[in-house]
Amino acid sequence: MTETSKKVLLSGIQSTGRPHIANYFGAMKQYVDLQDQYDSKIFIADLHSLTTVQNKEELSQNTLDLAIDYLAVGLDPKKVTIFKQSDLPEVTELAWIFNCITTVPYLMRAHSFKDAEAKNKEINVGLFDYPMLMAADILIHNSDIVPVGKDQKQHLEIARDTAEKFNRVFNTDIFKMPEPYIVDSVAIVPGIDGQKMSKSYNNHIPLFSTDEEVKKLVMSIVTDSGAGIPVNVYNIHKLFRDEKYLDKLYKEHEGKYKALKDALAEDIIAFISPLRARREEIAKDPEAVREMLKNNAKKLKLEVDEMMQKVREAVGL
Ligand code: TYM
Repeated sequence: MTETSKKVLLSGIQSTGRPHIANYFGAMKQYVDLQDQYDSKIFIADLHSLTTVQNKEELSQNTLDLAIDYLAVGLDPKKVTIFKQSDLPEVTELAWIFNCITTVPYLMRAHSFKDAEAKNKEINVGLFDYPMLMAADILIHNSDIVPVGKDQKQHLEIARDTAEKFNRVFNTDIFKMPEPYIVDSVAIVPGIDGQKMSKSYNNHIPLFSTDEEVKKLVMSIVTDSGAGIPVNVYNIHKLFRDEKYLDKLYKEHEGKYKALKDALAEDIIAFISPLRARREEIAKDPEAVREMLKNNAKKLKLEVDEMMQKVREAVGL
């Protein structure tokens, strides 16, 4: 297939700090697995990160780091267009247009907003409007599929609703319906306490951890005091080994939680070490990574301009 006949895959991750193994298994791995099949565009959601990271050095360092992470996990820059969200400010223009056709009660139903409200957090307008910017990210690139974890499913539904509403209100067919791509077995990767792995729950294992960090985190996986299978250990172990292998191992070591945790730590370390080594190599030349982001933004700008011409025309701007 030629480049242009391939369907468009688009996804992104916030640059809020080091990615964890749930970001990898829930999302990044799919980007890598599908990179030959699709015209893939993978970005760093730095504008979304600004809703929580409000420190200049931290945000720009996180952004560069995530670009390096993408390359280290195996995204091939010849096949995938890796870019920085804020390099295409047209996306915020489109988000504004979407704001004007979206109601406040509709956005109040978003899980991200409801969670923040339930926790009594101070909610900035950016956080409230988060799903509109995400809809713009997806729709501006004419995306066909969007690989994500299950926590983003509602955001995908919002993007689809928004595409449909825009087309209806402005009597056009500019936007096509994007499909979420969620792999069932890793839709919700659990953390060391058995809840969904998340930086905000502090139950995560960073993807580029040192061996010492891995050992410490694995030892702190919550297990119940009874005999039998330590479910939280097993459920993380499943990411690294097939179930047949694990069933045998867990049977042999029934009730021996320490031995099973050691085995898990060893498997995680074996998985992470080569990624970490590759990351260290790539990180030696940050200028090359910045250059890649800049060139990709230039390339995408042409496509995005074309889309925004149609949008402006359709709304009468
Ligand atoms: P973010 O940065 O929170 O997470 C990045 C990706 O990791 C997935 N993920 C998980 N998957 C399985 N189990 C878990 N415990 C787990 N935790 C995180 C997320 O589902 C996500 O796929 N809003 C997005 C970023 C974004 C975006 C977009 C994504 C902005 N615009 C457009 C796709 C398309 C986010 O906050 O992901």
